[in-house]
Amino acid sequence: MTAAYRFDDWETPAAAPQNPALDAKIAPKIEVGRSILPAAALAPINAADKRIVNGKADINQLAPFKYPWAWEFFLKANRNHWTPLEISMAQDVHDYHHKLSPAERHVFENVLAYLTTSDILAMRNIGLAVMEKMSAPELQIYQARQVYEEALHTWTYQHCIESIGLDQQEIYNRYRVVPEIHGKIALANRRLERVMRADFDLTNRANLHEFALSYFFFAVIFEGCWFYNGFTPVFALQRRGLMKGAAEQLQYIMRDEVLHCAFGIRVVRELLKEEDLELDPRALRELWDEAEAAETAYADYILRAPILGYNAELHVQQFRFIANRRARQVGVEEPFPGAENVLPWLDEQANLRKEKNFFETRVTEYQTGGALAWD
Ligand SMILES: [Fe+2]
Ligand SMILES: [Fe+2]
Repeated sequence: MTAAYRFDDWETPAAAPQNPALDAKIAPKIEVGRSILPAAALAPINAADKRIVNGKADINQLAPFKYPWAWEFFLKANRNHWTPLEISMAQDVHDYHHKLSPAERHVFENVLAYLTTSDILAMRNIGLAVMEKMSAPELQIYQARQVYEEALHTWTYQHCIESIGLDQQEIYNRYRVVPEIHGKIALANRRLERVMRADFDLTNRANLHEFALSYFFFAVIFEGCWFYNGFTPVFALQRRGLMKGAAEQLQYIMRDEVLHCAFGIRVVRELLKEEDLELDPRALRELWDEAEAAETAYADYILRAPILGYNAELHVQQFRFIANRRARQVGVEEPFPGAENVLPWLDEQANLRKEKNFFETRVTEYQTGGALAWD
């Protein structure tokens, strides 16, 4: 009997070929592999030759860096390690079944239903639509980490859904059957599909603009506004001592998302500068209007009845306020002039109290790294 293959066994030699005739056919090809070596040594890489997209420098060589800040993002991201299993959900199970009102349960379930599908989209956007277009390894390496983090976030929502005992079949299908949730997902999916076409050539200026706009949408609106503000209803419950386990899970996710958004903004800014490209103000306006309409419909659905200290109007006003903040960070016109900070507690509530310096440290570093203050 043949022993089962063990992936952790590095010692046992590979088994003899089962088909010697086939092996003999393959062997000569392996031997001539030497002929693919270059005839002469390759020229060293200059950092200046690297580009965000369409670069010709060797993608397999990390340094010299042209974008050292991207490497810093990778190092910083590695300081936020956790798994959802480390946070107790015991009190949440009790809160959900015995303390939340029907309106609060409705909010909580639908926030999870939206987020769990959204994070899969975020993962696919970075992993399939963005990463393959990047032509500097220091950018790809942070994005590889981001892909993992989005998968971790999906696990986190799944862990919350499962440990509280929600009907998984029903929750995961909500984004399909609830139009107000589907609207946001569909909008993101459309953007993603446009830049994932096999024939999408970035040497074409119109395509390059489309790509920059799509990256802007995902980093600035999808992650920077919809996620950032999307956790808020759960933080509103946390402020009242409810669903504290789930809220802490979201705080860990938020730390990742703040970096995803900041990194994306930095890439978009550098891309526009490098390619001497400007985002079309009309296209941006359309993007903001679509995002606001989708967010308003979503807020009206999840908060069809207000909960204590939080309602749909506050949610949308805060979306506009955060949108202005993000626009300033990219260096484009504020989309909603005059929007006010109606939830002054949000930034503080979103922060993990046990590591208070985390955000403060980053504010300083972003300011020196390219005017990316989280004001
Ligand atoms: Fe995420
Ligand atoms: Fe993200």
